[in-house]
Amino acid sequence: MALYRRLDPERMPHHVAIIMDGNGRWAGKRSLKRFLGHQKGADAVQYIVETCSRIGLPWLTLYAFSLENNLKRPRTEVNFLMMLLRTYLNNNVQRMNDNNVRIRYIGRTEELPGEVRERMQWAEEATVRNTGTTLTLALNYGSRSEIVDAVRRIAAEVKAGKLQPGDINEQDIDRNLYTAYMPDPDLLIRTSGEMRISNYLLWQIAYTEILVTDRLWPDYRGIHLLEAIEEYQRRERRFGGLNTGTESDDVSSLPDRQLVL
Ligand code: IPE
Ligand code: IPE
Ligand code: MG
Repeated sequence: MALYRRLDPERMPHHVAIIMDGNGRWAGKRSLKRFLGHQKGADAVQYIVETCSRIGLPWLTLYAFSLENNLKRPRTEVNFLMMLLRTYLNNNVQRMNDNNVRIRYIGRTEELPGEVRERMQWAEEATVRNTGTTLTLALNYGSRSEIVDAVRRIAAEVKAGKLQPGDINEQDIDRNLYTAYMPDPDLLIRTSGEMRISNYLLWQIAYTEILVTDRLWPDYRGIHLLEAIEEYQRRERRFGGLNTGTESDDVSSLPDRQLVL
């Protein structure tokens, strides 16, 4: 935890989101089946969750299974991932309770198999009173479909006469997203080197700091998360404003026509 002591407690992120990619490549490099990569990936989840709990991170949101994964991967792989999720929940709820971790979900989870939903609900209820890290798993999640779902709910409010079209604002969209209960991510990490977002939290990451690492997800550990937070603390977040140490030009002091560069 020497690295943890180097971090600035005043500038810790509140919400870290992770695209956990590279399970297949991890297995391929070892001539193993993809399934084994997913299994190691599930172990990595628990290490990271416990690090977050230890450092007091309030929100951790993990991309575990996308809508597109559900549609485009072979049924055997999808079924394995569903089985792995159930096993993960069965085996780790006790540890979540020991670590004061609460589990929640985002995504079109109603489309997941009944026995998976039953385990998910069980884990959610078993951890509902925990006040440390909230672990949100994105399952059968796609950001565009989340936005579609939000628009449908807003349209229903308009139809019911509860909201005028001209009054719809950003807060109305926020409160209708699956993520309504959490703040926007401060830091988004993607493992395995791909420089893309893959339909994850498109609305919510408007001003999130993005960090891509080549490390494959099954190899990702708490120390790497602490390194990512250290890098985050070196960044300067501007939210569209000026960077510190610069001043705005006093345009009024320039003679006419000198504005052409
Ligand atoms: C990420 O690993 C886990 C899921 C998408 C479920 P991948 O399975 O995408 O691994 P790669 O990208 O093929 O290495
Ligand atoms: C993103 O990874 C989804 C998850 C990590 C669950 P993918 O492996 O599905 O992304 P692409 O297909 O490389 O964009
Ligand atoms: Mg992948």
